[in-house]
Amino acid sequence: MRIDIITVLPELLESPFNHSIMKRAKAKGLLEVYLHNLRDHTPYKQGQVDDYQFGGGAGMVMMPEPLAILIELLQKDRKYDEVIYMTPDGLLYDQKTANTLSLKENIIIICGHYKGIDERIRQHFVTREISIGDYVLSGGELAAAVVVDSIGRLLPGVLNDETSALFDSFQDGLLAPPVYTRPADFRGWRVPEILMSGDPKKVDEWRHEESLKRTADRRPGLMKEDGQE
Ligand code: ADE
Repeated sequence: MRIDIITVLPELLESPFNHSIMKRAKAKGLLEVYLHNLRDHTPYKQGQVDDYQFGGGAGMVMMPEPLAILIELLQKDRKYDEVIYMTPDGLLYDQKTANTLSLKENIIIICGHYKGIDERIRQHFVTREISIGDYVLSGGELAAAVVVDSIGRLLPGVLNDETSALFDSFQDGLLAPPVYTRPADFRGWRVPEILMSGDPKKVDEWRHEESLKRTADRRPGLMKEDGQE
């Protein structure tokens, strides 16, 4: 999978994909991430990419021209399955969307700044608008990193058995159960006996029960058919 990220702050995204699982995904050739500095593609002087909004009001808006130029430049070389815009007024991101995106071949992600991007780019280029939560970040970069990380780890061959995504929270619509490691007795706080029983069926049952309890307690909405909370 190839992901092209359009940003005015490429420095912010240099580290997140160069460690741990993302680094492995890239090293194995399963994931390619390219950062594009929007200022390198603007036709305006001094790297200008934003301007005042029509109608007045505080805050700058990212101009359509530099974005269109860069998106079309990328589209000349390959077909993109999605042009995603990271924005707090997008659809809320979840594991289901991560699963869907992990099946795509080529994706462009636009990171917004200031008041956001000109609406015409959203109408004519963007195929999907994503929010990672009901709070406002100072730019779309960290949100893009979240999306790329969550997609990257789902690509076949990236995770091994030990880190398999199948047992993640949300993958079966439930939160993950508690986990324990050595020592079995830490300051008198003991690991549940059943986990040391050596009976895999009992352990599975216990984990499932704990998942249900945790989900009912923290995210009851996940247990409803439609996932709405
Ligand atoms: N840009 C700023 N805030 C954001 C959010 N919550 N999700 C996605 N992109 C954003």
